[in-house]
Amino acid sequence: MGFGRNLNRRQFLAQAGLLTAGALLPTRFALAQMQKIRIGLMLPYTGTYAQLGVAITNGFKLAVAERGGKLAGREIEYFTVDDESEPAKAPENTNKLVQRDRVDVLVGTVHSGVQMGMVKIAKEAGTLMIIPNAGLDAATGALCAPNIFRTSFSNWQPSYPMGKVLADRGVKNVVTLAWKYGAGEEATAGFSEGFIKAGGKSVRGLWVPFPNVEFQALLTEIASIKPDAVFVFFAGGGAAKFIKDYAAAGLRKQIPLFGSGFLTDGVLDAVDDAAQGIETTLHYGDGLDTKRDRDFRSAYSKAYKSDPDVYAVQGYDAALLLAVGVNAAKGDITKKKEMIAAMENAKIDSPRGTWTMSKAHNPIQDIYLRKVVGRENKVIGVAHKALADPARGCKM
Ligand code: PHB
Repeated sequence: MGFGRNLNRRQFLAQAGLLTAGALLPTRFALAQMQKIRIGLMLPYTGTYAQLGVAITNGFKLAVAERGGKLAGREIEYFTVDDESEPAKAPENTNKLVQRDRVDVLVGTVHSGVQMGMVKIAKEAGTLMIIPNAGLDAATGALCAPNIFRTSFSNWQPSYPMGKVLADRGVKNVVTLAWKYGAGEEATAGFSEGFIKAGGKSVRGLWVPFPNVEFQALLTEIASIKPDAVFVFFAGGGAAKFIKDYAAAGLRKQIPLFGSGFLTDGVLDAVDDAAQGIETTLHYGDGLDTKRDRDFRSAYSKAYKSDPDVYAVQGYDAALLLAVGVNAAKGDITKKKEMIAAMENAKIDSPRGTWTMSKAHNPIQDIYLRKVVGRENKVIGVAHKALADPARGCKM
């Protein structure tokens, strides 16, 4: 058990000024209390999802700063790894944090393929993990585990409600287009499930490899198929490029474009007017007009000189959830059972609206319908109230 890197117990106490003549020796618990909580942030800081990783980091650190930089009286030490949204490097990167840095908590990541690698290692090592974005359905489905929590969404979750929204409008035939990897596959599957269930007729899927942004041939194909609507999954830099290309191809007036809200979140400044009017579904949006959200947004803008987006909220909520666990254990994070029980029963007072944890450790949350107006993803309705992921295959 660590008393600091190369110090034994006596040396550590001496250094901490605690081994003076006659002084009472602190208990093991008191020693543990003095050590910092080691948090491993494994997120993309380069590549198409770089800005997502930054927003999550900012959100997390803001919530900790609002608590005086401490959780239950314990200071925080951050260890950071850029996972590059590269699934092949996931095991090595996760082990840098788990084995080399011996973190107490893993916070990450954005990309579902990288998440798969992280989940496997966290399950084996038993390290507490909070997922602040990646929607990988299995993380709170077939691979669910007591030490794995998510503060964002399952890939199914924000896309499923858009199926009914379009079917209710009389849309019959849809083309879906997405990056061909876990998130794109699961998001379009969720959409199709909701669409067909609500009376939609046909869905045809087109794909592009991740993180490719050469959309021209696919846009030509969509123009020749002439569906009633297009539903896409793209995010970050790739989403901005797609929105611009779709508009430049002259398709906006011919075939309405929809998506899960990742398409338009955090990218509106980069696309000028090309996104105006695009409707999406997501668990956050602009103009919620609650005190909670207004307070969060002004604190975030003040701290980072930029507006928060859904990713910032998810990172913020990851720290809120961790705070619930650490507080329940009174700072003694070796009390994993107490921490987990408290986190399972947490009611998170999020900027997105209050949410609770499903049995599989995924948020039960409202999914908003939003429309791009100016530089905002304006909330124009609730597409599905208190939606829980079906957690297929989770036995917990
Ligand atoms: C994912 O890979 O799960 C993912 C990535 C970016 C998003 C949403 C989901 O915006």
